[in-house]
Amino acid sequence: TSPLPPPPDGADFVVVANRLPVDRDDSGPEPVWTTSPGGLVTALAPVMQANDGAWIGWAGIPDEDIEPFDIDGMHLVPLTLSSDEVVSYYEGFSNATLWPLYHDVIVAPEFHRTWWESYLRVNTRFAEAAAKTAAAGATVWVHDYQLQLVPALVRALRPDVSIGFFNHIPFPPAELFAQLPWRSQILNGLLGADLIGFQRPADAANFRRAARVHAGFATKSSQIRVPENPESGTGAHIAEARAFPISVDTPTLDAAARDPETIARAQEIRSDLGDPETLILGVDRLDYTKGISHRLKAYGELLADGSIDPEQVTLVQIATPSRERIEQYQQIRTDVELAAGRINGEHSDLGTTAIHYFHHSFPREEMTALYLAADILLVTALRDGMNLVAKEYVACRTGEDGVLVLSEFAGAADHMNQAVLVNPHDIDGLKANILRAIEMEPAERRRRMRALRRRLIRDDVQSWSRSFLDTLEALDDDKDLRRWE
Ligand code: ADP
Ligand code: G6P
Repeated sequence: TSPLPPPPDGADFVVVANRLPVDRDDSGPEPVWTTSPGGLVTALAPVMQANDGAWIGWAGIPDEDIEPFDIDGMHLVPLTLSSDEVVSYYEGFSNATLWPLYHDVIVAPEFHRTWWESYLRVNTRFAEAAAKTAAAGATVWVHDYQLQLVPALVRALRPDVSIGFFNHIPFPPAELFAQLPWRSQILNGLLGADLIGFQRPADAANFRRAARVHAGFATKSSQIRVPENPESGTGAHIAEARAFPISVDTPTLDAAARDPETIARAQEIRSDLGDPETLILGVDRLDYTKGISHRLKAYGELLADGSIDPEQVTLVQIATPSRERIEQYQQIRTDVELAAGRINGEHSDLGTTAIHYFHHSFPREEMTALYLAADILLVTALRDGMNLVAKEYVACRTGEDGVLVLSEFAGAADHMNQAVLVNPHDIDGLKANILRAIEMEPAERRRRMRALRRRLIRDDVQSWSRSFLDTLEALDDDKDLRRWE
């Protein structure tokens, strides 16, 4: 690869992510733009709105060439994926190889050479788009597991830019990562970045260990010495790999939860549900990593053994459609819907519904009203990079009441230890903790929620991006000074 000249009208700040913040929906008479699913978009949209720059990503439908456009204060540069690439790069390598491998192999990852080739091809296209969009000396910030080859590819094309990478999902222990036939290519791809950010210190440590064990690079505290790579055309440099736990837009959520319309809507939701004494909420993408089946098992047993009365307690479970053509996602949908149907069949009555189950997305305002209405939020992920739903709930609890039941296996547990922490694999423990949350005294609820909110007000998504980008900038300033001591 030979380096490209910077474009004359390039952007100083370029975000590169598989998804744009909006999806194009062509199912109606007129195309409409809807918010894309998932935590990456939730976190990055407010960052992008506060910064000038361009966001390169896919608009969620195959085979559509869409011109760059502006929406909600963001400049978006759509990148086209063919139908074949959606199958092999997105549903295949990204979500049936990497996603399960990086989430503790909850389901078995599949390794196919044709998927890898597609991943390499699409990553190359993203890197070329970034190289054509970034101004001289710009900051290019690449996001998530779908684009791990992009940092080194951008470095080869544009040695003048400063490159950051942030992984929104866990990074697996070196022993699991070892399964990946293309592990050294992935490591070399990521190590093209100057700064590689992870959700938890444990993820960063796993990555540095993988760089030592599987790429043979020397590491010292958070630094990794990356030698020159004549094959990709990149020079020697020192990369930094550290944790930067992501967060939510706390001030915006807090303000939305104080809006009288939201408050009225929250009351209406409770009364529509028959004014239960305790309203429990679950909000997840319908993904096998979220532990929805474990949660329903515990809840069903509590109803069956008479520990909770469906006239007093009700569960609202929102399961957002996700990656619906992948077999494992079809399986989890069947499992969850069967379990919810069974529990309702046994424990609901005319006028009392044990579980209210929804398989669709909701507008932001409705989500806020639901968080405000719920006495308890259940997060039972078997493995999760961070889990922004947990943070959104806390940000919306302006009355400083409500209980967060949080899995130890979500990144959020690292710094939300005032939550009721649970091991979702331990069904008896999960049941006991759900009961504990239902019965918790108001004073204890308040003490815990107040502490959780204090932390979230300080550590919001803007402070996350500032901290990452300031670190990247400082590394760039020191580029020539930094030596391996
Ligand atoms: P993930 O990124 O794995 O989906 P997170 O919990 O980090 O998990 O982020 C999920 C994001 O998606 C949150 O911002 C949440 O509010 C949003 N979300 C989840 N379900 C829905 C839904 N049904 N309607 C609207 N937004 C949703
Ligand atoms: C998680 C991933 C994101 C992804 C999102 C939604 O948050 O970290 O990269 O965008 O899930 O998944 P999807 O496959 O619909 O983009």
